[in-house]
Amino acid sequence: MSPTEVLVLDPKARDRVAEDRELRSRGPVARVDLLGLEAWAVSHPDYLKRLLTDNRVSKDSRRHYPDFEQTVQRWPLWLWIAVENMFTAYGADHRALRRLVGPAFNHRRTQAMRPVIQDITDRLLTRMLAKQEAGDLVDLRADFAHQLPMDVIHHLMGMPRQWQESMADPVAKVFDTSLDIAAALQNGEDLKALLARFVEHKRAHPGDDLTTDLIHARDGERRLSEEQLVDTLLLVFTAGYETTVGLIVNTHRNLLTHPRQLDIVRRNPKEATVAAVQETLRRDASIAFLPLRYATEPIDLPEADVRIEKGEPILAAYSAAGRHPDIFDQPDVFDVLRPNASTHLAFGHGTHLCLGAPLAVAEAEIATRSFLNAFPDAVLAVEEHQLTPVESIISNSLRELPITRRGDKHTRKAT
Ligand code: HEM
Repeated sequence: MSPTEVLVLDPKARDRVAEDRELRSRGPVARVDLLGLEAWAVSHPDYLKRLLTDNRVSKDSRRHYPDFEQTVQRWPLWLWIAVENMFTAYGADHRALRRLVGPAFNHRRTQAMRPVIQDITDRLLTRMLAKQEAGDLVDLRADFAHQLPMDVIHHLMGMPRQWQESMADPVAKVFDTSLDIAAALQNGEDLKALLARFVEHKRAHPGDDLTTDLIHARDGERRLSEEQLVDTLLLVFTAGYETTVGLIVNTHRNLLTHPRQLDIVRRNPKEATVAAVQETLRRDASIAFLPLRYATEPIDLPEADVRIEKGEPILAAYSAAGRHPDIFDQPDVFDVLRPNASTHLAFGHGTHLCLGAPLAVAEAEIATRSFLNAFPDAVLAVEEHQLTPVESIISNSLRELPITRRGDKHTRKAT
């Protein structure tokens, strides 16, 4: 199959593994249709690393995407290219916006978050144990993975509890690629309006949190516009939430469906839990595709038989890259002892490398280790083939992960 033949990506991502395999078979860089928009998808790790560090590749859609105006009016993923924050900035603009948020995620601050993460985890696990004792089915996604990253982000951002529930739905919908344009537009506007109200609330009630720091950078130092302030909050809430939910769900799914690997982790939880998290990021990147980048001038890739013209969109294909056989031996196998697992690109690469990666890994590690301790005989409550993926080209995870105790008859069919 030629790289210029268009692969139409399934908006509901019903069979991600097969779709990624098909994409790789078309070459390292190949044409795809992403909800009606054509782009060059990059699925080979070497090409991804090369393009993600090439300064002829930009994420600034206003400056470098000639079809920007028409696209934001008709494309359901409009918000991904229209936000005004570091995610869509280029060069010096990007560096300035990233500097505002970067310190909040440095090593020291992430280490300081560990006791907070552990407390939230312990509280959730106690609730789950009580639920199981009462004979109710525990869903590891809804009861655990969904709640932990949200509580962590709300703590970081200083968002009071009464705001939290109103955030969950609009944030999840940012990743839902089955929405039509009207619903996606409405959702983006609702989320921005909610965050603008939150900014007003924090102006009146400042605290020791990242939102207050950003408001100071805006009001005191004039380092960002009001739009950039709201959109930076939007980025941290969306980037820090659904992605980490996916990582926690995928790690638990992998361990519960691979008993020998689970055994390795149980025997050496200190080191092997982190290895299981890294191997999950490699095998099942929780961000599968990341829209969008643009060529600022023509880019020739003769070995791939591809020329990317100026202004053409480029799509990073992270989940396909994680299973590339040129880099990873038997890539579909989940192997917590894989020596090169942590060379995955699930957190991106280059200037836009994920700021929250250490935090996400800390959350997944603490969640997994604590869960395995609290639920020593947990098994899936359904057959693995009954698990259903979230309806998203971008987010790679499961809609639910029901668990029960080994030997417990309390099983049921997945919805
Ligand atoms: C498993 C969890 C996570 C995954 C898989 C993930 C993945 C990614 C990826 C792939 C990128 C690069 C996007 C690109 O290609 O340009 C990115 C950027 C980013 N991530 Fe994460 N992320 C995760 C968790 C988090 C968390 C917990 C936070 C913060 C609370 C966060 C904040 C950010 C920010 C601010 C950026 C933008 C960086 C920039 O544009 O300079 N992420 N993330």
